[in-house]
Amino acid sequence: MNSQEIRQRFLKFFQEQGHKAVPSSSLVPTDPSVLLTTAGMQQFKPYFVGQKDPLADFGSKNTVSVQKSFRTSDIDEVGDETHLTFFEMLGNFSFGGYFKKEAIHYGYEFITKEMGLTIDYVSVFEGDSEVPADTESEEIWRSLGITKIERFGRKDNFWGPTGAEGPCGPTTEIYVNGVEVWNIVFNEYYMKPDKTLEPLKQKGVDTGMGLDRLAVMVQGKKNVFETDLLEPILKILPESMDSRHKRIIADHLRASVFLLADGVMPSNKDRGYILRRLLRRAFTYEHIYKFSPQTGESLIIEVIKKYGDFYPELQNQKNNIIDIYFGEWQGFKSALERGLKVLEKENSIDAEKAFNFYETYGLPYDIIKEIAGVKAESLTLEGFDEEFKKHQEISRAGAEKKFGGHGMVEGDLTALDAAEMKVKTGLHTVTHLLNAALHKVLGEEVSQRGSDITAERTRFDFVFNRKLTDEEIKKVEDLVNEAISANYPVKIETMPLEDAKKSGALYFYKGNFPEMVKVYSFGPSADSGSPFSREICGGPHVSSTGEIVGKFRIIKEESSSAGIRRIRATVE
Ligand code: GLY
Repeated sequence: MNSQEIRQRFLKFFQEQGHKAVPSSSLVPTDPSVLLTTAGMQQFKPYFVGQKDPLADFGSKNTVSVQKSFRTSDIDEVGDETHLTFFEMLGNFSFGGYFKKEAIHYGYEFITKEMGLTIDYVSVFEGDSEVPADTESEEIWRSLGITKIERFGRKDNFWGPTGAEGPCGPTTEIYVNGVEVWNIVFNEYYMKPDKTLEPLKQKGVDTGMGLDRLAVMVQGKKNVFETDLLEPILKILPESMDSRHKRIIADHLRASVFLLADGVMPSNKDRGYILRRLLRRAFTYEHIYKFSPQTGESLIIEVIKKYGDFYPELQNQKNNIIDIYFGEWQGFKSALERGLKVLEKENSIDAEKAFNFYETYGLPYDIIKEIAGVKAESLTLEGFDEEFKKHQEISRAGAEKKFGGHGMVEGDLTALDAAEMKVKTGLHTVTHLLNAALHKVLGEEVSQRGSDITAERTRFDFVFNRKLTDEEIKKVEDLVNEAISANYPVKIETMPLEDAKKSGALYFYKGNFPEMVKVYSFGPSADSGSPFSREICGGPHVSSTGEIVGKFRIIKEESSSAGIRRIRATVE
């Protein structure tokens, strides 16, 4: 039975019992206290607590769904036999409709009759000072001939709320081949932010069964990477490859496809950072095995092919997903190469060094830990997080740095932004070098009209009335690259605005110069008054041009509006 059939049989089974099939909600939840959708019940929270009426919205008090889910807690575990980041959750729900007896009967029927599996044993809640033991579920199971019943506590048999507060309650779980396949939750309480429990006005049922895991049982496979869901994706990778690495790439790219299809963009914050981490980890293995990024693209295309029928958003977003994948790779590859080279030379990596690597090259913790191997034996995630926190405090104190005249105003600078900040600072200095080179090649009529700097490129607008020739572009590139290779130190002077102008400093006036301004000069004779670049600016800049690692390149030169040219350039 393939996974598509399992999905259909699940939906059909519950529809036949009066459940309304509800489409999966987005991986980006509406609840702001939750980063990503982790369970099928999330979209139904308002129905469990009586805020919304299921009869009005679904025509039934009972629903069934196949929900896209993502659990960050398992990222570091991926690569073993069972853990995944993204998965699909089969679930049936009741909001004041049926309760324990029906829920357990449905679970039993579906597993044994529809799926033809044998239940090893089940577990129920053992009871504690707040919530009584679930003897009722125990009796229902016994009535079905299940006699092996384990009793567990809060950790195993109690569903806590997703987010800061919400419905929760004791669970009963079904085990097949020694593995938990189905979690049936009896929502009887509402957990408040202070963790106290209040009885819910109406009782509810919420269940969750991972499709990948169920497919392992139904298809008689050994692990989640051998089912028809992931096996065709893994197969694209060479047989000789380490199987853990294969699994990580397959899991991470599958998850990335789903996150991208739901509109998550790679960034240095929140879910964007989770996505970036997944992509970067996949890129790192691709790089280590000397694959081209097209290998990853083939995996992505296979994921879309595999899941596109059931999740049409994947088909609709296909081009976008592939574009963003390549964009991220482009932005990360040179830092990755440099980072791996430097990492190779290190003899040992402690938390401080690891954080430095993260900050300078954007290498995530797990990559550093993995690549450095024995050299990073003492490195722990806790140690790394400590460094992270320390740095966050420092960064917060130094927040609100402004990039003078270049359209970059950094507000809430968190540690996560630190790596990006470094790249931008380098590109900011590069923008000065470009401005100077344009003056040297095209003459003094060049006058800046604006600029914009991202972690990927700088964009520079200037007054000039024709297209640049290929030779001119080449000359500008050479001049900037020479200035980078020369490793010119920065010279910063503070002086009255009029003196700065007289000294020949370039400036871009936006009506906001103070009386005293800073002038940034980059050699060869910064001291003698005729440096390569001299500009009025608010900073920040690198302390010497050698800190800009890579080759400067103009990627586009075009007209931006009448008499204004626009250049986009990168360093990589
Ligand atoms: N909400 C039940 C589960 O996700 O297991």
